[in-house]
Amino acid sequence: MSAVETINFTRGVPALESFPTTDLIQCSAAALAANGDAMLQYGPSAGLAPLRAWLADWQGVKPEQVLTGNGSLELVEFLCTALLKPGDVVFTENPSYDRAITLFRRHGLTVIGVPLEADGPNIDALEKLLTQHKPKLFYVIPDFQNPSGATCSGAKRRAIAEIAKKHELLLLEDAPYRMLRYRGAQEPTLFSLVPERTLHMTSFTKLIAPGVRLGFMMGDAAVLAKIGKVAEDTYISPGYFAHGVTLEWLKAGKLAPQIEKLKALYAPRLDACLAALDKYIPDAVATRPDGGFFLSLTLPQGVSTTDLRAAAAKRNLNLADGLAFFPQGGGERFLRLPFCALTPAQIDEGIRRLAECVRDVRGK
Ligand SMILES: Cc1ncc(COP(=O)(O)O)c(C=O)c1O
Repeated sequence: MSAVETINFTRGVPALESFPTTDLIQCSAAALAANGDAMLQYGPSAGLAPLRAWLADWQGVKPEQVLTGNGSLELVEFLCTALLKPGDVVFTENPSYDRAITLFRRHGLTVIGVPLEADGPNIDALEKLLTQHKPKLFYVIPDFQNPSGATCSGAKRRAIAEIAKKHELLLLEDAPYRMLRYRGAQEPTLFSLVPERTLHMTSFTKLIAPGVRLGFMMGDAAVLAKIGKVAEDTYISPGYFAHGVTLEWLKAGKLAPQIEKLKALYAPRLDACLAALDKYIPDAVATRPDGGFFLSLTLPQGVSTTDLRAAAAKRNLNLADGLAFFPQGGGERFLRLPFCALTPAQIDEGIRRLAECVRDVRGK
């Protein structure tokens, strides 16, 4: 009997074939030859100085407005230690990135979800929640949101920026998928709309590879200095070796062609996912993103993600738990589908199996 291939619709991992390995081999040797002493030594926790300067120049801010980290997620950890205390309230979108929710909870924060719609957070609900709570932070993923795939409209971004000003609310804008837009026009970042109230965060995890562990935060220099002090007291300096290699790669002009390569690789995977859903599960309500790593489904009435996962496991199909994305419960029929690490053929087969599982669960 031939083994049935396992298909994973679980976490948002990049495709192995997206990694620019050959370029990174060359850039490692060149970086060590040119800048080896600095790359191999301790240094300021904000990051290797010429990399910080490159990132600042790229983003149109001052170097002291950039704080790098070993990936972006850990910067949220340092932010919580530096700026928040147990019992503080943090707003997230509902649903939101499960690891961020876990991290906030670990700091003893009260996490309140603002209902998320296809075009971003529900603004009326946000305003209502602000009459009931005084959050220290609103964590938002405006572009190709993890887990839903939703992108916040320009109008809602402007509304959030105004609300942040009015309520003196700090926005943490997490944008690791922003540059992976496969079609349509970019919306402005929250950082561009209300820089004085926004910390903007992004990462090279989805642009180069998770292994470089390079993310960065931009914002007010004094706030970043506080967060950087926690980083220093934790790991002294971040991974300068990766900083040197990445800087070499960036200076060699590799970013723009890499983004084009990623779009060419991932856009057909998104299309395959949408086409397979239309073909096999037309009554599931899917988000239809224009980029990123995820789309999400609201399963048909009577089909829970928990039951579906159990049925899927029997068909060598691994699905993620939907509940972890909802800070205050709910999400019983929510299913995230990360499509980037699967080929279009695997996606078609995975959704075909998913449809069988939906039938199994309905027929119970
Ligand atoms: C919204 C979001 N933020 C942060 C991260 C973590 O990124 P990094 O690898 O830079 O820590 C991810 C990874 O999936 C993510 O989806």
